[in-house]
Amino acid sequence: LKKIRVNLKKRSYDIIIGRGVLNRLGLFVKKLKLGRDAVIITNSTVLRLYGNKIESVLKLAGLSVLTLTVPDSEESKSLKTASGILEKIARYDRNKKIFIVAFGGGVVGDLAGFVSAVYKRGVPYIQIPTTLLAQVDSAIGGKTAVDLPIAKNLIGAIYQPRLVLSDTALLKTLPGRQIRNALAEIIKYGAIKDAKLLSFIDRNMKKLLSNDIRSLEYVIELSSAIKTSFVEKDEFDKTGHRALLNYGHTIGHAIEASSGYSGRYTHGEAIAIGMIAAADISSRLGVLKDSGYSQNLRRMILACGLPVKAKGLKARNIYESHLRDKKFTNARNRFVLPIGPGRVKVVQGVPDIVIKKAISEILAR
Ligand SMILES: NC(=O)c1ccc[n+]([C@@H]2O[C@H](COP(=O)([O-])OP(=O)(O)OC[C@H]3O[C@@H](n4cnc5c(N)ncnc54)[C@H](O)[C@@H]3O)[C@@H](O)[C@H]2O)c1
Ligand SMILES: [Zn+2]
Repeated sequence: LKKIRVNLKKRSYDIIIGRGVLNRLGLFVKKLKLGRDAVIITNSTVLRLYGNKIESVLKLAGLSVLTLTVPDSEESKSLKTASGILEKIARYDRNKKIFIVAFGGGVVGDLAGFVSAVYKRGVPYIQIPTTLLAQVDSAIGGKTAVDLPIAKNLIGAIYQPRLVLSDTALLKTLPGRQIRNALAEIIKYGAIKDAKLLSFIDRNMKKLLSNDIRSLEYVIELSSAIKTSFVEKDEFDKTGHRALLNYGHTIGHAIEASSGYSGRYTHGEAIAIGMIAAADISSRLGVLKDSGYSQNLRRMILACGLPVKAKGLKARNIYESHLRDKKFTNARNRFVLPIGPGRVKVVQGVPDIVIKKAISEILAR
């Protein structure tokens, strides 16, 4: 069992990582005095796999339990779904002391976090992430959101959970594509902050890809600590520090947008390509001088079963989409570029020609 403290003054909390930590949920709820009445928000897939398990843990601890289930889809991150859930909670909430349990991947986590932030202007909630991506990324840091048709994550709040419980036993049922999806973000953490993590992934790729719990646990620990360090320095995404987490995301988001969010590329696949493009830009600008490192990154991404090329997309669409990046300020572009293993920096005003070259490179056969 590993514990990482997220230090945010009055909003501080622990991330607990380990196999079977879900069994101790009742203890944590009591220790944190969260309430007597648990509202679990989950999706149909996670309910089928682990619904009985979580309900019985909470009931054994003497808590009342209401389980609310949403369809297994990004479409559940909507105002409509949120309002349906809020109404059900409000009807249930008579003479109760409720807290919310976000039990699922990033979709459920973002939605349940959002509901927790706005119901009665904020009720306590716990994140119990069930995907690798949620354990290393979305459950940490308090970014909660729902989507609007014109853009993802447009409506939301920064609202911290009271606890993150990452039970690695839950990852046994996770499909390979979801593991690879998260490995892209984990490689990203290594690339921005921790050369040691990169070499661990490199040496343990086979185990990671076959859901080996021990090696997953180690990368979850390191990744959670890295995400935590960024969140602590820039909780509200104001100083620009948290922006370093966007390595690979500028071109990555453009790839997602220009494939019309069709599911052709998962988020992780898109940012894998985005990391390659950013490394290419960095080399062209002379920021990254070690060509061996770009080759290493590329080799690792391929070894993960992640793509390095964006097949079937149009250069012009990717270029146009990247211009709409939320992180660009005053019409100046801003890229997170690698300097070497575990080191990146923000570079503004990258010449258009360099960006276009990098885009054509990821489209070339
Ligand atoms: N808040 C943040 O900081 C943040 C960061 C990154 C991503 N996100 C958001 O997270 C979402 C993506 O999260 P995700 O990748 O976890 O996707 P997801 O929540 O859709 O989960 C992926 C799939 O895995 C299934 N699943 C979940 N747990 C499982 C388990 N234990 N066994 C088998 N199957 C399981 C889900 O039902 C789903 O089909 C996006 O909406 C994204 O915007 C938020
Ligand atoms: Zn991401």
